[in-house]
Amino acid sequence: MLKHHSKLEKNSFWMLIGIVVVVAIGGLVEIVPLFRIETTIEKVNGVRPYTPLELAGQNVYIREGCFNCHSQQIRPLRDEVERYGHYSLAAESMYDHPFLWSSKRTGPDLARVGGKYSDEWQTAHLKKPQDVVPESIMPSYGFLLERGANIQKIGQDLKTLRIVGVPYTDEMIENGYKDAVAQASSGGDLGSRYGDKVNTRDFDGQPEFVSEMDALVAYLQVLGTMADLKNYKLQEKNP
Ligand code: HEC
Repeated sequence: MLKHHSKLEKNSFWMLIGIVVVVAIGGLVEIVPLFRIETTIEKVNGVRPYTPLELAGQNVYIREGCFNCHSQQIRPLRDEVERYGHYSLAAESMYDHPFLWSSKRTGPDLARVGGKYSDEWQTAHLKKPQDVVPESIMPSYGFLLERGANIQKIGQDLKTLRIVGVPYTDEMIENGYKDAVAQASSGGDLGSRYGDKVNTRDFDGQPEFVSEMDALVAYLQVLGTMADLKNYKLQEKNP
């Protein structure tokens, strides 16, 4: 074997062929599984694409860089699960483009913050965090109450996300603006497109217009609430 090897090492042509073969095998081992990447995400009941208003809220979250201080992934470690709730499932962020798992926790993880506080709390906290959590070092985002949510062309966002695989229908894209306005009030026929569990109400206490605060709070209130976790019981303690 070693003798053959020294022959190969002295012949640059066969050495080159040998290198190409070995690198090709290594490459295939890495690349081929990616063609089947979708099979690695287990389907979970209840997980749906974001509504137009929630998506507008996610856009604000990204623009303001909330991910610099907040993660959105609960790891399957006991301390995390006891503090934040059920660990995150892959399917729960399958419609996030870009994903917002983040890697830094200056503030708490937000993966399951949906429903943890009232809309009033969320709005007051974003307006001035120190009003509700005196020792907070989070910056204020009161200006979100005065800015109209960027929803006029939200249908385009839905359309773009469809290109990367989020299953928005033509009807959802066409009704993007209408659905966003409806979610911040009575709901309209939003339920027929996104399901009855969607939160529909005025989120920021200013019913007369749809602000960026409405959008951001609608987004925060849905985080971690979509998945039906009944079939994912946490492992019982060791006997
Ligand atoms: C400079 C870091 C920083 C930034 C940026 C930041 N936060 Fe925070 N956030 C914190 C800290 C620290 C806390 C914990 C104290 C508190 O509740 O205010 C917190 C708490 C929170 C909570 C309460 C979580 C809980 O479970 O109690 C929410 C919700 C939240 N932030 C949302 C946001 C949103 C939305 C943004 C972007 C608009 C944002 N934060 C930007 C640091 C930050």
